[in-house]
Amino acid sequence: MKIAIIGYGGMGNYHAMHLKAYEQSAPEDPLSLAGIYDIDPCRMDYARENGIRVYASAEEIWQDSSVGAVLIATPNDLHAPYAFAAAAAGKHIISEKPIAMSSAEAQEMYARAEAAGLIFEVHQNRRWDDDFLTVKNILARGDIGHVYRIESRVLGANGIPGAWRKEKARGGGMMLDWGVHLIDQMLQMIDAPIESLFCDYSYIYGEEVEDGFDLLVRFRGGIEYRITVLTDCFRPLPRWQVYGTEGTATVEDWEMRGGITRVLEREDKHLVGIRAGNGFTRTMAQRSSESVENLPLPIVHAEPFAFYKNFAAAASGKQRPVIRKEEVLRVYRLMEEAARSAASGEVIRIKI
Ligand SMILES: NC(=O)c1ccc[n+]([C@@H]2O[C@H](COP(=O)([O-])OP(=O)(O)OC[C@H]3O[C@@H](n4cnc5c(N)ncnc54)[C@H](O)[C@@H]3O)[C@@H](O)[C@H]2O)c1
Repeated sequence: MKIAIIGYGGMGNYHAMHLKAYEQSAPEDPLSLAGIYDIDPCRMDYARENGIRVYASAEEIWQDSSVGAVLIATPNDLHAPYAFAAAAAGKHIISEKPIAMSSAEAQEMYARAEAAGLIFEVHQNRRWDDDFLTVKNILARGDIGHVYRIESRVLGANGIPGAWRKEKARGGGMMLDWGVHLIDQMLQMIDAPIESLFCDYSYIYGEEVEDGFDLLVRFRGGIEYRITVLTDCFRPLPRWQVYGTEGTATVEDWEMRGGITRVLEREDKHLVGIRAGNGFTRTMAQRSSESVENLPLPIVHAEPFAFYKNFAAAASGKQRPVIRKEEVLRVYRLMEEAARSAASGEVIRIKI
């Protein structure tokens, strides 16, 4: 199947390169790049320099019967209009995340694709991040006992990049940008209903959209999950910190540094107090080395090209899209409740 990319910016270019590598891997269901369309002539020139066919308009893509699918990698406000046009032209669709500006728009996008008998899949690529898969693996293996708290954070140091990401009307803000990934990961990891949430947005430099947020979600069964996104933090904190009754796991970064510390004996007979600031503490002292063991992370590597493989197989009628509509809409529901909490300053008690 041939696929055309609309929007050849950072992510459009990423897809062009990865689709080429996918094709070269000789997959069972190939996807090859038909060409790109971008409104920016500089991006069109850049595509030509890379030996990629450039369509003069989106209309030209709709008219090209050799194109079976499109991949939309434009700013967020344009995902829906392009998806509607693609569905009308009978092309299968991959949309970059966040698929839509709201849950209502997302539902409409799915409805139009379904009515036309087309596959519509959102590129939730962070389901195949090694760090996420490794944390999921720690939970599944029970390495640290009953997990009661998870911290997932991404801390940037460059503010909100680019122009459209700062504009509300274009779908800017860190909730739609990173929240959509990190909430999706959370819902893939914790198989329990949500009971309440609290969210706080930050506007450090006075942009019209949030430059970061802190979201605290409580699940039935007691797991507390905290997502932190910042864009002005100049000292790193771990990407993941996972707390269990028998240990703590840390994934420091996307290079997969980190480890697990497991408790060997609950009562630390060798515990010595420490000087702490202008005082003394045993409570906050680290455990003695005799009472814990340090283990490497049980690293899981993602299957290469898993998303493209699934989309191509789905478009050929062999598989269902792995990113399911119900899952995407649940993420949207949660983002909208988080926005409600941030606006009101209140804890939202709901079953999601
Ligand atoms: N899944 C991921 O990991 C990931 C990472 C980054 C960005 N994204 C998503 O990808 C999308 C694009 O982000 P980006 O970082 O590449 O942005 P970008 O600004 O680098 O690229 C957007 C491109 O769209 C083009 N464009 C704008 N209006 C257009 C129109 N009317 N028709 C055609 N092209 C148009 C721009 O000229 C630009 O080249 C966003 O939805 C973003 O959320 C996803």
